[in-house]
Amino acid sequence: MQIMQADRGLLITLEGIDGAGKTTVARMLHKRFPDFVFTREPTEGPLGELARSTEEPLEQLFLFMADHANHLRSVVLPSISSGRIVVSDRYIDSRVAYQGALMRDLVPLDWIYEIHRPWSRMPDMTLLFRIDPSLALERCTNRGATSIFERESFLREVSRNFDILASREPERFVVIDAEREISDVADRAASEIERFIRRRNNLAGTQL
Ligand code: TYD
Repeated sequence: MQIMQADRGLLITLEGIDGAGKTTVARMLHKRFPDFVFTREPTEGPLGELARSTEEPLEQLFLFMADHANHLRSVVLPSISSGRIVVSDRYIDSRVAYQGALMRDLVPLDWIYEIHRPWSRMPDMTLLFRIDPSLALERCTNRGATSIFERESFLREVSRNFDILASREPERFVVIDAEREISDVADRAASEIERFIRRRNNLAGTQL
């Protein structure tokens, strides 16, 4: 399929609280854009497994970051530099929103960004799947989830953090209503991605 070719590599991230349907949407997007590189954080590798295995917030932050460094080096950067479009299900913003909520009395949200910025690659576009935490929680409970990450008060705070991030960077974030039918959510996500790539390609064309 040649319809969606970016002139050079791009990084698109999918963010939102647990139960927002991101992962299902990612699967649908993969069918729609088979040439894109679909990836995720935490990874399925040993660092991702380690990050999932602790509930201690500071250790968790650095384990998720180690997993990110590995993901960046082994998947994200090589794919972008060969001109591919990468779609990551969760990325830096998850760290800012989740570990930021867990450590709100210890560190400011910005600090979590700052410790990534010098060495990481920020996304070109972020789709934020927005859903009321009580509805998200219903979806999580239906699939038997019970971790601390799936408690309503916690999800509310994470959701607020995502809103703060989106309002600070309106150019990067596209907020998507994830309370609708999952196929509508995926359609909206796909058309936002197409629009973004078209705009990028047009801009690149006018600069030549
Ligand atoms: P998730 O994508 O839901 O994976 P799983 O298939 O194991 O459910 O990620 C697991 C949890 O980790 C999710 O609740 C979000 C959280 N998380 C963080 O707290 N910080 C991070 O940096 C990342 C990437 C995820």
